[in-house]
Amino acid sequence: MSKSLARVRDIEMAYDDSGGDGAALVLLHGFPFDRSMWRGQAEALGGEFRVVAPDLRGSGETPVGAGGVSIAGMAEDVAALLDELKLGRVVLGGLSMGGYVAFEFFRKFPGRVRALLLADTRPQADTEEGRRAREENAQRALEEGMVPIVESMLPKLLAAGTRERGGEVLERVRAMMLGTSPEGAAAALRAMALRRDQTALLPTINVPTLIVVGSEDAVTPPADAEAMGAKIEGSRLVVVEGAGHLSNVERPGEFNRALAEFLRALPA
Ligand code: MLT
Repeated sequence: MSKSLARVRDIEMAYDDSGGDGAALVLLHGFPFDRSMWRGQAEALGGEFRVVAPDLRGSGETPVGAGGVSIAGMAEDVAALLDELKLGRVVLGGLSMGGYVAFEFFRKFPGRVRALLLADTRPQADTEEGRRAREENAQRALEEGMVPIVESMLPKLLAAGTRERGGEVLERVRAMMLGTSPEGAAAALRAMALRRDQTALLPTINVPTLIVVGSEDAVTPPADAEAMGAKIEGSRLVVVEGAGHLSNVERPGEFNRALAEFLRALPA
């Protein structure tokens, strides 16, 4: 896995690329995380498939840029990255905020999506109350930095077992969150608050779709994943036992098995 930079619209976008000739799988991280959350997938699948994982605008090592941040704009960034990499149709995966970007990408560029992976995400827009909380957190991040945001979010993100085990996973997630710049976090929070409701898009999704959710996901619970799956014809739902909102990081073995099986069964 080598880190690379691509000129994408007005910014330099950081991404990892396993290279190789296999089918391309593009993985979009959640908030407030970065491309390193997909390390376990790149390590397991990056030989057989070409795994590309960018830092979305304002996250990790990709800057916010000058023109404002929106979920639709992040989807445009991903399309520009695919252009740079000369990737036509890809399997597009997103976890949580990455899923919001994947919905927007499918809406704009359906012909470029060979299949979808929707992990721990939901189609609904925020409620008014949710929007207010995002704005409070955005201001808090800008005034006080990431520590209070991280400490209030962390307990809700991970399954009880992951938190109790502590160790490498917990520390990795904490470090990734603390590595998000306050400016990038505020921009992403405001972008998520303004994102459109994608519920009406679901019945138009006509590509193979894998939905994955942690059995203890408190942010986008299994019931939401089931309701989403019921609206996407032919979709497959996998519940990862013992994982919270970060199912791919908390239970990489189970997550990778489901993903590999899905990828290998895709029509050419
Ligand atoms: C994420 O993991 O991307 C966030 O929890 C999504 C959200 O806050 O809606």
